[in-house]
Amino acid sequence: MTDKTSNAMWGGRFAAGPDAIMEAINASIGYDKRLAKQDIEGSRAHAAMLAAQGIITDNDAKAIREGLLTVLSEIESGEFQFSTALEDIHMNVEARLKEVIGEPAGRLHTGRSRNDQVATDFKLWVRDQADAAIEGLEALMNALLAQAEAGAGWVMPGFTHLQTAQPVTWGHHMMAYVEMFARDRSRFQDARKRMNESPLGAAALAGTGFPIDRHMTAQALGFDAPAANSLDAVSDRDFALEFLSAASICAVHLSRFAEELVIWSSAQFRFVALSDRFSTGSSIMPQKKNPDAAELIRAKIGRILGAMVALFTVMKGLPLAYSKDMQEDKEQVFDAADNLMLALAAMTGMVSDMTAQQDNLRAAAASGFSTATDLADWLVRELGLPFRDAHHVTGALVAMAEAKGCDLPELSLDDMKTVHDGITVGVFDVLTVENSVASRTSYGGTAPEQVRAQVARWKEALA
Ligand code: ARG
Repeated sequence: MTDKTSNAMWGGRFAAGPDAIMEAINASIGYDKRLAKQDIEGSRAHAAMLAAQGIITDNDAKAIREGLLTVLSEIESGEFQFSTALEDIHMNVEARLKEVIGEPAGRLHTGRSRNDQVATDFKLWVRDQADAAIEGLEALMNALLAQAEAGAGWVMPGFTHLQTAQPVTWGHHMMAYVEMFARDRSRFQDARKRMNESPLGAAALAGTGFPIDRHMTAQALGFDAPAANSLDAVSDRDFALEFLSAASICAVHLSRFAEELVIWSSAQFRFVALSDRFSTGSSIMPQKKNPDAAELIRAKIGRILGAMVALFTVMKGLPLAYSKDMQEDKEQVFDAADNLMLALAAMTGMVSDMTAQQDNLRAAAASGFSTATDLADWLVRELGLPFRDAHHVTGALVAMAEAKGCDLPELSLDDMKTVHDGITVGVFDVLTVENSVASRTSYGGTAPEQVRAQVARWKEALA
């Protein structure tokens, strides 16, 4: 049943011959077409530099630079015919440039190689994504700040081990995420700063004998400087690894917050109402309102961390300088970046739209003996007990309340005196959740005044 176009080795499994298989494994155009804008930007900077250095004529540079804009507009309008036979975006663009402007197109590749070209294109793309992540994180932080400002004084339970621990404020909980996303933002800022050196002009690996000006192209492309070692310049993918690392940590934070929103929006908790815009219904259970956006955000870490592990594994053990393995860098980063931006946008929308259920939060905060620590602190402060003794006395009072089926503020003074006769009526002041949070005025504590101060600090920092 085999004919000439089918594969002699693998029979019916592969319809194509070995050359076509080589083409299929070798070509990257299917995905690196996303680098078209950066590729053309890099080539235009390179052409201008070649002319400025007298390596090509001004007329050729002009034809190249204008022709590249024509090619870009063809790509952006969707009329460009990408060819797998031309392997990648670099060859596709150059081949089309030749059709558009003729002979001068052949002079563009003087003093460079696809190795420095792809490193430059990809770095420009990742740099844009770092900027987009920073912007997305700032939008999310602003949404959290609005929630924190509105709810600086709303009392809710604080948890450890997901067991009621001490009352905290809604604003304080929101501000915890502001701190986490602020660290993510600084990781992207930091990575962006470190990556901002230009590989262009490193050529294949050794530099070039043409009198190129790498400072000029670096500056034209918004880099701080040319990369100082040509071998390193073409083989470095740290910028992508750092981007994926920062993205992974950010996705961890997003997944933790998403998990809380899933729990909080359940009928058992009812801490928060998510908007219809970020929820879905069930096809069978009419009462359901599902937190799908939160669940999907919770899941995004899977593919983002997966991309990070994939690229670390590709890069591990690669000798200097360029190896074709490195072509496997792009799809991972594209997918991780797309999904991170989507998750950030969805989380920002969800946070802006959600409504804290203040009454339920307060009721939950007051249950589970959440002011027991306040009681112990009162015994230390007012009766001079060592904290360990106060802890013991409070434990006995909690056991008594539990046996009576009531909460701590519902115990009578007489009952309390049977545990420690020094206790006075003043103790009841510290047993309310409002007084509990108001008392936690230490720097970074949950007192509404502390929360408002942190909100003000961040609003100013982000303004
Ligand atoms: N498509 C290649 C990549 O993404 C471009 C560089 C090709 N260089 C080479 N020496 N074959 O890595």
